Amino acid sequence: MNLKLPPLVTGERRAPLPVGVLTGRRRAMRRLFAYATAAMNRVLDRLPVGRWLHRSVQRGLCFTPLEVQLRAGAENLHGLRIAFLSDLHAGSFMDARDLAAICARVQQEQPHLVLFGGDLINTRERELLLYRDALALLQPPLGVFAVPGNHDLFWGPDIGLWTSFLQEHGVQVLRNRGVRLSWNGQGLWLCGVDDLTEGTPDLRQALDGRRAGEPTILLSHHPDFFFEAAAADVDLTLSGHTHGGQIRLFGRAPLRHSQFGYEQGWFAEGESRLYVGRGVGVTILPLRIGAPPEVPIVTLVARTAGAQQPGRAAAAATPMGVGQRDR
Ligand SMILES: [Fe+2]
Repeated sequence: MNLKLPPLVTGERRAPLPVGVLTGRRRAMRRLFAYATAAMNRVLDRLPVGRWLHRSVQRGLCFTPLEVQLRAGAENLHGLRIAFLSDLHAGSFMDARDLAAICARVQQEQPHLVLFGGDLINTRERELLLYRDALALLQPPLGVFAVPGNHDLFWGPDIGLWTSFLQEHGVQVLRNRGVRLSWNGQGLWLCGVDDLTEGTPDLRQALDGRRAGEPTILLSHHPDFFFEAAAADVDLTLSGHTHGGQIRLFGRAPLRHSQFGYEQGWFAEGESRLYVGRGVGVTILPLRIGAPPEVPIVTLVARTAGAQQPGRAAAAATPMGVGQRDR
């Protein structure tokens, strides 16, 4: 698939609304289904077998080292390391102790920046309280940032408590806004959009304030927003949502979460790159088959003279596997 998008017209909405059993907007029947699965989550969470399965899943957590080349002129950002945490689903088998262990492990990687890609909680705002100790363990010099995912918006678009809890605990929320970070004298525009399924993403707002030609990283929970980001000169989009399929049978995920096949790994469109992380947590069942949990550690690297971004010629929806190695 080649998107062949013309340049984005400011304020224009391009990314298509997700469709499907689990990815479309919550109508009455889908909302009922979501409540039922959340209730099943809570029952399983109380059973020893549920806890045991969850611990087995978490033992397979991968810290995936990745590299992505920068645009020319951004060489001073070389070496900047980003830990990308998505889909933790606190409250869905994931408890405060799990979260603290994961954040302690992330901090050991000594990232310069920690980004949360949405679905921090499963269904209830109070599940955020599980992060109280864990967030204190994260001390990256450039800060901790987050965007909401569809589960964070489970009860609607008003997530004021979600936002204020995170901000009080040192996490800046990038819901349709951006900030300029500075590293070795080089500016980096870091921005985020609201969730494509349950929220109202606005890339124009997220890019408001970006300087011409400034290197840009976008956080978008839903990977299909890459459809729009690629047309707006965004260097790197980091997404989650799909859990890499969570349960893959014979190499395929029975449930499709992206209209463009952005299920996991690297994708390219022109000079723009998307990485879809498999996420850390689980929903519905404490199971992952063929899609182990992961925390990608993304290192920005300077482009050498004359070199092209790896996979530049690859069509969109083609996994690039740039520097990817699970350990
Ligand atoms: Fe998720």
